Amino acid sequence: MPAWLDDAVFYEIYPQSFYDTNGDGIGDIPGIIQKLDYIQGLGCNALWINPCFDSPFKDAGYDVRDYKLTAPRYGTNEDLAELFSKAHAKGIRVLLDLVPGHTSEEHPWFRKSREPRPNEYWNRYIWTDRWGTWASGLKTILGEADRNASYIVNFFKSQPALNYGFFKPDQVWQLPMDHPDCIATREALKDVMRFWLDQGCDGFRVDMASSLVKFDDPENSGTAAVWRNIRAMLDAEYPEAAIIAEWSHPRRAIGAGFHADFMLAFTDNSGYQSLFRDYVMDPENRIAGGDTSFFKKDGKGDIRRFLDEYLPHYEAVKDTGYISLVTGNHDLPRMSLNFSPRELAIAYAFIFTMPGIPFLYYGDEIGMRYLNLLSKEGGYHRTGSRTPMQWKNGGNKGFSSAPEEKLYLPVDPSPEAPTVEDQEKDPASLLNTVKELLALRRSEKDLGSKPNLEILYAEPGKLPLIYRRGSLAIGVNPGEKPAEAAVKSAAGELIYALTGGQTEPCTLERGVCRMAGQSFVIWRLFQN
Ligand code: NOJ
Repeated sequence: MPAWLDDAVFYEIYPQSFYDTNGDGIGDIPGIIQKLDYIQGLGCNALWINPCFDSPFKDAGYDVRDYKLTAPRYGTNEDLAELFSKAHAKGIRVLLDLVPGHTSEEHPWFRKSREPRPNEYWNRYIWTDRWGTWASGLKTILGEADRNASYIVNFFKSQPALNYGFFKPDQVWQLPMDHPDCIATREALKDVMRFWLDQGCDGFRVDMASSLVKFDDPENSGTAAVWRNIRAMLDAEYPEAAIIAEWSHPRRAIGAGFHADFMLAFTDNSGYQSLFRDYVMDPENRIAGGDTSFFKKDGKGDIRRFLDEYLPHYEAVKDTGYISLVTGNHDLPRMSLNFSPRELAIAYAFIFTMPGIPFLYYGDEIGMRYLNLLSKEGGYHRTGSRTPMQWKNGGNKGFSSAPEEKLYLPVDPSPEAPTVEDQEKDPASLLNTVKELLALRRSEKDLGSKPNLEILYAEPGKLPLIYRRGSLAIGVNPGEKPAEAAVKSAAGELIYALTGGQTEPCTLERGVCRMAGQSFVIWRLFQN
């Protein structure tokens, strides 16, 4: 495990929308370089940049046309190498986004693979052996190539699936995992990883990490074997490099050799969703129906929905890898859609004081709004979480000097739209709260990634939530009413409180924890 992960706090950057330095209306790599001081000032010491490689952008760059070329709209490979070295000089690590499961249909490998006659790349993707589609559970595309076959896609039609083989092949066209052409795909992926690691990147966030070896592989053991082989290469050649999975099954992902895995909302009733986004969205991207998220102030949520999912994973991986909780990402509606700034502050305080590696999505630190927009570059409902960063008041909120109509996506037009400039001046702003919390995470060694979590009080449908991290006890009461709980014989001195002007005291005395409405508190436990 690279030691730097033990106190890593990530900032996710959607490069399109972060900072535009050349006035073409779209963010760029030099823009990220210019904002490194800002990122450091937040208290983040690592970056994840969404795919910034050459692409036709039918899925915002998750359709890679050339894995080794920076998309010209973001800059050059030299710019990216400069970002790595300038970030390192400030103690900031940089993860690129690796898309191992599929490429763009415009990738040269696919152009060769679709040719009617066999060639070196014929098996680089998964093709059936005739025009019919005998591939249950797989999305097949017919009518797009001269080859007498249909091909499998991983996500959109523009994303043909790379061929890592089948776990249990039962058709002649389904190659076994150890077929030389499937091994060649894996080796080609390693070649891409080495290329960027040699330029100075610190590792990868790995897209759809569980998708490599095709079905029937219910436990993903075939895919896990591929990753363990890749991890062995990293351990031998790049021991400081990290790989963080988008798998959302930490036990499997970390068993497969990942250093960390995100806990996300891939199912409607996931534990992660129950914390922050427990609502249904209508086709107009509005919240339809009740919101029972745990961090809503009306207190209708149930923390056990999260913990009963999280804790078994935590126990299973605590000695071998980390779980990552995110404030949001480029696929999720921003938390501000249903949360007030106060609710956001308490939710973030929880994320930043849990074990594992937290991720802050750009703009979440100021509570940027989710906008209801038409789909852009395959964004669909996700587009509204991808709008330009709001740096300051005035034209394009400081994102770009381009005319408004040339912007990649519109800037939040509301006069109320939060900006970094305004929030920097207000000591009680969300931005300053985020900075305080991250500074605390850095200064209290018990608040790092390491596994020292003990749940002190978490009852179904009740408040507050109280947990322990080493010498600290942490109380979370998202509900607007005061709450109290018995906590063994614990007592402690208050070292941090987010009480938002509530006047009731928050105390931990003689085994009773009392919390004001909508409060978050940290106590240093008395030794006894
Ligand atoms: C997950 C990524 O986060 C998402 O944005 C993308 O559309 C799919 N994977 C397909 O690569």
